[in-house]
Amino acid sequence: MKNNPTHHYSLSQPLALLSGMNAEQFLAEYWQKKPLLIRQAIPGFSGLLSPDELAGLACESDVQSRLISHKKSGWKVENGPFDERRFAKLPPKDWTLLVQGVNHHLPEADQLLQQFRFVPHARLDDLMVSFAPDAGGVGAHFDSYDVFLLQGEGRRLWRISEQKDLALVEGVPLRILQNFQTEQEWVLEPGDMLYLPPHVAHWGIAVGACMTYSIGFRAPSAQELASEFLSFLQDKIKLTGMYADPDLPLQQHPAEIEQHMVQKVSNMLNAIRWEKEDIAEFIGRYLSEPKCHIVFDSPASVTLKVFRQRLAKKGIALSGKSQMLFHGNSFFLNGEQLSTLPAHHALWVELADDRQLASSRFTEELLNDAELIEQLLGWYQAGYVQFV
Ligand code: SIN
Ligand code: CO
Repeated sequence: MKNNPTHHYSLSQPLALLSGMNAEQFLAEYWQKKPLLIRQAIPGFSGLLSPDELAGLACESDVQSRLISHKKSGWKVENGPFDERRFAKLPPKDWTLLVQGVNHHLPEADQLLQQFRFVPHARLDDLMVSFAPDAGGVGAHFDSYDVFLLQGEGRRLWRISEQKDLALVEGVPLRILQNFQTEQEWVLEPGDMLYLPPHVAHWGIAVGACMTYSIGFRAPSAQELASEFLSFLQDKIKLTGMYADPDLPLQQHPAEIEQHMVQKVSNMLNAIRWEKEDIAEFIGRYLSEPKCHIVFDSPASVTLKVFRQRLAKKGIALSGKSQMLFHGNSFFLNGEQLSTLPAHHALWVELADDRQLASSRFTEELLNDAELIEQLLGWYQAGYVQFV
């Protein structure tokens, strides 16, 4: 798959991934609306990593993971990173290990996400992978976000319900529905996939040991957007003038904040303005910002000459930890707005969309474009891009 990015497929092309629908039909009929079971969404898919490799990731300090176990006494949630000895002590059933952001660490996982490019990159959150021995799972719950649950190795029974009653059990360390009423259920085999819009109740139970790949989306709340936008605006606004009151009336109470003062401050604050372009810049910066636990790996230093040679030979890809977005001619990479030359825009659009530039893209002309190569080298040294 590596040198064959899922280039610009047309929206009208039917996709096995979407049960033979095209992306446009899926978006119109199912996205954020109703669940969809897709048998053999990815024929032959049996996973991208072994249970041991997943456990290995859960031991790393920059990986978010949870171990959830269920005993007669109730539910228990432990947060990673784990010591590998923890896994040796686990019982044969009734637990599950969940690892977030597997796409940050595994190039194949980042490539898998490219199959979901009919949803904007800015809406994508990450790939979570779970392992459970027989009967394991996280219980009946609902999520606030869209998710595609792709079955890897092994089988899982999924029960779902569009019930209105979303009351949660109190006093447990995870979200479990009080009254889950199964409406539909299926056993998913490797390569099968279940799409769930937000708030559809679901309960996945491992049938024998199994691994599930959750392609999860993000949707910021209005409150989060507002508070982040206000802090963005704080660095942008430049108001002139100072509070002035040559018309100061005599007050009876010197301690009183009179209407006169409130009106003046209100007039000053009414000068705060923002344009659609400010909002676009905010979204580009905010939605491309890495989560706070993410650490970019810096490579060994390399000379410009060697860098050029390797580009021509291997091509370059965004690191799984990077997010690159654009709006018009504004480009954003990992929370920063890039300064770009118009001549490079088509190339940056391609890198942002496909997350990689094949070696064949690096013609002699590009390789001799000093500005371009230096910009890429800067990103390489920051760990934002890596050789394919
Ligand atoms: C799992 O993989 O066990 C959990 C996925 C989910 O229910 O969201
Ligand atoms: Co869920």
